Amino acid sequence: MKILMITSEVDGIVKTGGLADFSAALPKALIKRRHDVRVIMPLYKQAVLPLPVTHPEVRRKKQTQKSASNVQTNGRKVNHSDRKVKHSDSKDINPSAGLNAYSLYFNLNYSDRYGCLVHHRHLATSMARQKAVPLMLVEHHDFFSRDGIYGDELNSYPDNPLRYAFLCKAALEQCLSQNWIPDIVHCNDWQTALAPYYLKEHYLHHPQFKKTKSLLTIHNGDYQGKTDKKWLDSLGIMPDRFTSELMEEYGRLNLLKCGIMYADAINAVSPGYSQELLAPETSHNLWHYLNKRKDSFTGILNGCDYTLWNPKKDPFIPHHFSSSDMVGKSLCKVALQERMGLAQKHDLPQQQDLPLLGLVSRLTAQKGFDYLIPALERLLYEDAPVQLAILGSGEPDYGSRLHHLQHRYPHKMSFVNGYDNGLSHLIEAGSDFFMMPSLFEPCGLNQFYSLAYGAIPIIRETGGLKDTVVGLDPDHQNVDNATGISFRYPDANSCYQALKQSISLYQENMGLYVEMQKRAMMQKFTWEKSAKEYEILYKALIPPRTKRKKKIS
Ligand code: ADP
Ligand code: GLC
Repeated sequence: MKILMITSEVDGIVKTGGLADFSAALPKALIKRRHDVRVIMPLYKQAVLPLPVTHPEVRRKKQTQKSASNVQTNGRKVNHSDRKVKHSDSKDINPSAGLNAYSLYFNLNYSDRYGCLVHHRHLATSMARQKAVPLMLVEHHDFFSRDGIYGDELNSYPDNPLRYAFLCKAALEQCLSQNWIPDIVHCNDWQTALAPYYLKEHYLHHPQFKKTKSLLTIHNGDYQGKTDKKWLDSLGIMPDRFTSELMEEYGRLNLLKCGIMYADAINAVSPGYSQELLAPETSHNLWHYLNKRKDSFTGILNGCDYTLWNPKKDPFIPHHFSSSDMVGKSLCKVALQERMGLAQKHDLPQQQDLPLLGLVSRLTAQKGFDYLIPALERLLYEDAPVQLAILGSGEPDYGSRLHHLQHRYPHKMSFVNGYDNGLSHLIEAGSDFFMMPSLFEPCGLNQFYSLAYGAIPIIRETGGLKDTVVGLDPDHQNVDNATGISFRYPDANSCYQALKQSISLYQENMGLYVEMQKRAMMQKFTWEKSAKEYEILYKALIPPRTKRKKKIS
């Protein structure tokens, strides 16, 4: 099957959260299953661009040709008369032959014509070259070469609808220009939710896209790309489609809703979250739309990339370990304490004996900070026997509250405000518990990493967390299958009780803690399994091939 994955971030290139992990790992797993997958994303200023792999023969040819980058590096909007580079020009630049950038020009609506460069690369991976994930990066200086990805520190970029509409259109246009027509266009979140609209409304009569189907994956229903209706014309949305049935919401344009209504199928990133999205209280107000599409809506659990998250050979951690040899984990704990300034600071004799609770997260309300911070405050105020290692970046208010706690309790709490992949691995490796008290969690990936690294997850029972972690019953009724600690209600007291339960498990019942830790480390949530489920979903969308009638002579 040919699958085009359109996404706003990919791990290894640009990452702000789990969408990036998904966009790198699922294509890899699909390619292993012999699908022809291509991933397309913007070329942001922050992108770590993988080196092109260019055949020497082609390199020579390229030098004699006018470089594609002479064409239009800035990719500014071009006016009608500027048609020096036609689509056909890009066709003779064949990326599979090794050339790695070509220009692309297209319309977003009836009048506005845009240009960009599309770079072809492969995602760096340990896989053999022929199995590496083909990656296309859309270069447009004005849209993507900015200091932020989605916005500056405080606000989203006001022209985000246009930026990502442009990505969607470029993704479809490059298929035509390369004559590589996908069976499935796989879109992710509001950023790429316009692609199904374009397929159905702009390319309806295009013979090449006649059989192409679209899937929209909802990673986070809270972000819907709601925007002013003034964008309709620039995005090429016909006024008669701006209806409450399709994409209008209280007079505004809702891009995620548009994707939900136009995609051939929709899925959420866990079965639990898909159920939550159908229920009024937990759906971010999407339940109404998703119930209309209920027959085409499902949940598929994400996976864990165990080639990147394996405590036996993780290059980011100083000592390796496994469920049968945990010495390395204790050493990682010491390394983490040292790195976070939690070691030997004060008169705390046996810091190894204190449970170390880690957390790596975007600092945003979704992750439960409104009740986690008061719960931690209470714990620290009571001088509970615990240490906390927290890494996060995001909303400044949460950052300053966490800093404040750190200043008050420096020997017990350490907070690093920032994004640090290496440290995130060390926190998983060195922590005894990992906190994920999310208000909602479509899937969550850190609980997979925590399970694999023997950092018992402390979760709130929501979405994908509930699907993947079995909370220990406070009366120990389920000691045979518990893999974590959980709480139900999103409030400070429930969260505090779960933290207390964790501390006492560690301090008073080490036998059970170790048993749970071993069990956690045995859990496997592979991308192979997710890929199989996506494959079934894709196949169900593709119309069966009609058998050619034999000619009767
Ligand atoms: P979300 O996508 O909602 O942020 P996930 O749990 O699905 O949540 O994925 C988050 C991903 O981003 C994980 O791979 C996590 O390790 C990583 N991450 C989040 N914040 C940071 C940070 N401050 N530093 C390093 N990695 C981070
Ligand atoms: C979103 C969700 C997270 C999920 C990730 C990848 O960012 O918040 O729960 O794991 O997408 O699907």
